[in-house]
Amino acid sequence: MRASRDGWAVITGASSGIGAAIARGLSRRGGAVVLIGRDGERLAAVADDCRSLGALDVRSVSLDVCSVDAFAAAVRELEAEAPIQTFVACAGLLDGRREGELVETAEVARAVIGTNLTAAIEGVQAVTPGMLARGEGTIVLVASLAAFAPLADAPAYSASKAGLVAYGAALREALADFGVRVTVACPGFVATPMAARHCGARPGEIDAEEAARRILVGVARNRAVTIFPTGIGWLALWSRHVPAALRRLGTKRLRFHVEAPESPPEAS
Ligand SMILES: NC(=O)c1ccc[n+]([C@@H]2O[C@H](COP(=O)([O-])OP(=O)(O)OC[C@H]3O[C@@H](n4cnc5c(N)ncnc54)[C@H](OP(=O)(O)O)[C@@H]3O)[C@@H](O)[C@H]2O)c1
Repeated sequence: MRASRDGWAVITGASSGIGAAIARGLSRRGGAVVLIGRDGERLAAVADDCRSLGALDVRSVSLDVCSVDAFAAAVRELEAEAPIQTFVACAGLLDGRREGELVETAEVARAVIGTNLTAAIEGVQAVTPGMLARGEGTIVLVASLAAFAPLADAPAYSASKAGLVAYGAALREALADFGVRVTVACPGFVATPMAARHCGARPGEIDAEEAARRILVGVARNRAVTIFPTGIGWLALWSRHVPAALRRLGTKRLRFHVEAPESPPEAS
């Protein structure tokens, strides 16, 4: 039970990209990390990195975050050993219109909302009772600048991230007096396998390590919302207040389509 000193940091989407970088960042600080994703092999590789970076303890749990029961069972097992101190909901899916389509299909929209928004909320529901009982905890929701500057080529993705921003703000207020902190992170473009399926310009793209660093700074400062990179972040916020015709002109060169994902890995 090596995690008992500080409790677990549970990170969904830890098999790749930003989630994996957050897990490495917390491991460098000697944290006890729980890596969640579906792809067992990629989780094992990230777990090796975390151990070699000095994590106090590392667990990999292969599950689909859309399976409420599987996630709740994992939370029960972990909490039987040590408290879940931090929950990072980072698992996500970028999808949108394919080349030649005007808008995404209903199937794509359902998958995106289910993974990015519903599963994140259900994850929070599973970890919050323990945090409230102990009077401490940290919840981090990984949203996107698309919450503020909705993407015509990925409407459901934009809605899922705007939903997370609203949910996080409401949750932060609800839990403020009970020792549970909530931060919503809104990155711009980050070079990850997900971004590689975005076929279009990705201005201001940063790497996953820098994104994780910015998120962990936002959490340490207990920010309600942490937005980065700064320049494109301000543009995204400002774009909501300009006339639609001007906004369309400004975003014309940012139009994109999304390549079909490979079939998702099966949780083992
Ligand atoms: N990259 C960007 O430009 C960017 C910008 C803004 C926000 N974000 C957000 O950052 C988060 C991480 O994205 P990323 O760029 O790091 O992408 P990524 O490298 O493709 O990683 C996505 C992660 O989510 C996990 N995942 C997806 N669906 C899952 C499911 N049903 N069950 C369990 N795990 C699932 C994947 O694990 P498995 O495949 O192993 O299941 C993987 O670990 C996402 O929420 C994304 O929306 C990304």
